[in-house]
Amino acid sequence: MRQVTVALPSNGVDRSYEVVVGHGARARVGEVVGSSGGVRRAAVVTQEGIPLSVGDLGLDGVSVSRHVIGDGEDHKSLDTVGRLCREFVEAGLTRSDVVVAVGGGMVTDVAGFAAASYHRGIAVVHVPTSLLGMVDAAIGGKTGVNLPEGKNLVGAFWQPAGVVCDLDALDTLPEREMRCGLGEMAKYHFLTGDDLQAMTLVDRVARCVQIKAEIVASDERESGRRALLNYGHTLAHALEVASQHSIAHGEAVAIGLVFAARLAERLGRIDTARVDDHCRVVESEYSLSAHIPPVGTADELVALMARDKKAIDGLTFVLDGPDGVEVVAGVDAEVVRDLLADLLSS
Ligand SMILES: NC(=O)c1ccc[n+]([C@@H]2O[C@H](COP(=O)([O-])OP(=O)(O)OC[C@H]3O[C@@H](n4cnc5c(N)ncnc54)[C@H](O)[C@@H]3O)[C@@H](O)[C@H]2O)c1
Ligand SMILES: [Zn+2]
Repeated sequence: MRQVTVALPSNGVDRSYEVVVGHGARARVGEVVGSSGGVRRAAVVTQEGIPLSVGDLGLDGVSVSRHVIGDGEDHKSLDTVGRLCREFVEAGLTRSDVVVAVGGGMVTDVAGFAAASYHRGIAVVHVPTSLLGMVDAAIGGKTGVNLPEGKNLVGAFWQPAGVVCDLDALDTLPEREMRCGLGEMAKYHFLTGDDLQAMTLVDRVARCVQIKAEIVASDERESGRRALLNYGHTLAHALEVASQHSIAHGEAVAIGLVFAARLAERLGRIDTARVDDHCRVVESEYSLSAHIPPVGTADELVALMARDKKAIDGLTFVLDGPDGVEVVAGVDAEVVRDLLADLLSS
């Protein structure tokens, strides 16, 4: 079992929390919930098909209610949050009680936002059950829901009181969901000098949590450094849109990481050996595809990457370089397009 302390900048109030990572960690949920102090009720928010039952969570001594939300992004909505909050009233949840989110990133985002809103904010403990949830969604305090107009348009920054990652939950995770988590995990291999490949899964998840937590702590509200977590995401977002989301996020990130490495090489920032490192992690270590599928022309993909950003002065990418991964603005769109065209035709 590993324990990572997430330290957050405070104004005199201690807002740091623990992340427990390990096989069988589910039994520690009760302890983490109890550490909030004064908790009498726990509202467990989950989905059908999540392999952790309420009885597994060690929630002895508190009164537990269970709240099931629908599966899929359509249910990541204000309607679901409204329904949950009404159920919390029904269950008698007070300001000193706690919401326990048990599921993938969708559950932790929705339950986190419900917790942030209910009584103007009550404690939430995240128990992510997908790999993406463990290394990404449950860490960092971003919560929220979709609107018909777009994803994650309504939400709040709401830090959890604790996070419990039980790796045994991954045994039932569908293969494609696992691949998506691995795509996101792959990016952490390049954000620090750590040799993640040499680590066991427990250590690796714990290290990813720590890397994300450290970056978020230095930039809780996403102004600068947090953008490093978007490594591989510029092309990834374009591919998701161009494919009408038939390419899943984590799969797209895997492709985007190798593309970002090739772009950095073309810009003279890194050498071929470093590009090979990217290919090795993505393709050999995680068996993910780095091949850019023909979902659009090079021009279309560049146009998508330039969207919502002011592209007049070039594109903004997160790129590897002599000083490590950093945000680089003003990347020449011609260079990006030529590289894409070469890769699409190869
Ligand atoms: N808050 C953040 O910082 C942040 C970061 C990244 C992603 N997200 C959000 O996370 C969501 C994606 O999360 P996700 O990839 O975990 O998808 P998800 O939560 O939709 O889960 C994918 C599927 O796997 C199922 N599942 C989850 N754990 C399982 C398990 N152990 N066994 C069997 N089935 C299981 C779910 O029920 C669902 O059907 C998106 O809504 C995204 O916006 C948030
Ligand atoms: Zn991502």
